[in-house]
Amino acid sequence: MIMITGATGNFGRPLVAELAAQGSKVRALTRTPAAVRLPAGVEPCDSAAPDFAGVRALVVNIAGAPGSTTALLDAAKAAGVRRVVTLSSLLVATEGESPAEGSTAALHRDIEVAVEAGFPQWTHLRPGAFASNSLQWAAQLRAGDVVHGPYAGACTAPVHEADLAAVAVRALLGDDLLGLAPSLTGPQELTLAEQVQTLGAVLGRPLRYQELSPAAAKAAMLAQSSWVQEAMVDSLLDFLAGTVGRPALVTGEVERILGRPALTYAQWAEANAAAFAAAS
Ligand SMILES: NC(=O)c1ccc[n+]([C@@H]2O[C@H](COP(=O)([O-])OP(=O)(O)OC[C@H]3O[C@@H](n4cnc5c(N)ncnc54)[C@H](OP(=O)(O)O)[C@@H]3O)[C@@H](O)[C@H]2O)c1
Repeated sequence: MIMITGATGNFGRPLVAELAAQGSKVRALTRTPAAVRLPAGVEPCDSAAPDFAGVRALVVNIAGAPGSTTALLDAAKAAGVRRVVTLSSLLVATEGESPAEGSTAALHRDIEVAVEAGFPQWTHLRPGAFASNSLQWAAQLRAGDVVHGPYAGACTAPVHEADLAAVAVRALLGDDLLGLAPSLTGPQELTLAEQVQTLGAVLGRPLRYQELSPAAAKAAMLAQSSWVQEAMVDSLLDFLAGTVGRPALVTGEVERILGRPALTYAQWAEANAAAFAAAS
């Protein structure tokens, strides 16, 4: 049995689907086990009271682990879980061993350290910016053709969550990624403005990106998420600012691990076009 926190999210949903398709037993943590729709055979479980009976491997996504991730790991260890795959962050790799206190990198590195100390088998997935971050533009693009956000020139290589899920499946079911922390990016660098242009090409609409001041963008991000903390937003904005005018890191790890090309941002946009459809 594989337990997945954040199972209904951007990363968790394709992961659960792929594991279920391969015949793995999956227990999906969610705050709404009675209401959630999951693939046939997947067990929903209340994320406030995780049931570790029979669980041999755990996927830790802090976005779906309410309360203390330390408590979740302690319970997993007590229950005899042997393998843990963490959804970490590329920032751990790029910010070095001593990231700023409270930053996204520090938050994820603390969890990595706890996992390394507590479990014999582990893999940390360190993704860069998710392609699905563009879903934060969905409401704006249903209402019009302009996206308001920070740093139009911020440049990343967005990674498709289906690729992250495929790497996670390898880490859960095989042994070749044990003890490793691959840095996972998409295949192509794009600025935020270029992402909006790509979406426009896929949707057949004249979309454009209108830059907001960092302070206005911060207020909007905090208002949009119930779990994101101020320090995380600050570190995200600092990260974006630092990418303007610089080439984005493209690691090629997804291709190396999966033995096929990484999925592109345009492919992500095609698969998710319905989320941005203009209100009629
Ligand atoms: N976005 C990026 O570019 C990026 C890059 C690198 C690393 N990461 C890391 O990836 C993680 C985010 O993963 P994701 O996109 O899969 O997450 P997500 O989709 O935002 O959330 C995952 C699940 O967490 C649950 N959840 C949401 N808010 C919650 C709350 N306040 N309390 C408890 N549960 C809550 C929801 O499930 P239920 O409603 O079913 O409970 C949701 O489906 C973070 O740790 C982030 O640092 C993100």
